[in-house]
Amino acid sequence: MRQTKAIKDSIDVARIQADFDRLALLSREEWDHNSHYHRFILKQVPPYSRSALEIGCGTGAFVRLLARRVEHVLALDLSPQMIRLAQERSASYANIDFRVADVLSLEFPPEQFDCIVSIATLHHLPMEDILSKLKTALAVNGTLIVLDLYQARPADSFTLLAAIPINILLKYLKTGRIKEPQEVQEAWAEHGQYDSYLTLAQLRHICRAVLPGAQVRRHLLWRYSLVWKKPSR
Ligand SMILES: C[S@@+](CC[C@H](N)C(=O)[O-])C[C@H]1O[C@@H](n2cnc3c(N)ncnc32)[C@H](O)[C@@H]1O
Repeated sequence: MRQTKAIKDSIDVARIQADFDRLALLSREEWDHNSHYHRFILKQVPPYSRSALEIGCGTGAFVRLLARRVEHVLALDLSPQMIRLAQERSASYANIDFRVADVLSLEFPPEQFDCIVSIATLHHLPMEDILSKLKTALAVNGTLIVLDLYQARPADSFTLLAAIPINILLKYLKTGRIKEPQEVQEAWAEHGQYDSYLTLAQLRHICRAVLPGAQVRRHLLWRYSLVWKKPSR
């Protein structure tokens, strides 16, 4: 797809790493549009999962929830600062293996993970390539769970508008503020100028080819989820 090729061509791993090193140092790990969906994501984790992978774990807020449900978790992030903070904050979790890595440069043994999760990360990667890779790494009957941002279209307008007052209310109730501090806003704005997202139609098109049967849902706070259970052959 042209959009996917454009994303692939524009990926600058060093810049993404530098952006997230900067954002890690500003992070407070509080309620945000991603953590709002942690409970939803946890519900998709297959019971009795032994081995899980999280890609783009950031400072580790979700991987600590996952580690209470799964015997062993491998948590990857491109940013050394994110992984440093994640390790500090997860010192009591012996079953999480944190690693600084670009997921695209790793080879996973086939059918290794019962569960693979990625939150707000896959838009930094060529979607078809990464979904194919994760499909191979997922065990039969395992589940892939993605939460990420999408490029809105006019059909999404009502949801986008409805989200604004709800976001302000939730942000205030959960953090006591309605805005991020200035330096955090600036760091996200500088990072965001290079971000690009798939539309839901583009994502569904890719899923039909790579992950037939995947459930793609639009959520209120500018996110979609993709849930795919790997069928037995
Ligand atoms: C927007 S943050 C989300 C972090 C966390 N999942 C959360 O919900 O707070 C995206 C994360 O993906 C990581 N990331 C981006 N590209 C990556 C790659 N190719 N391999 C591994 N991690 C990557 C970044 O370093 C960053 O920490």
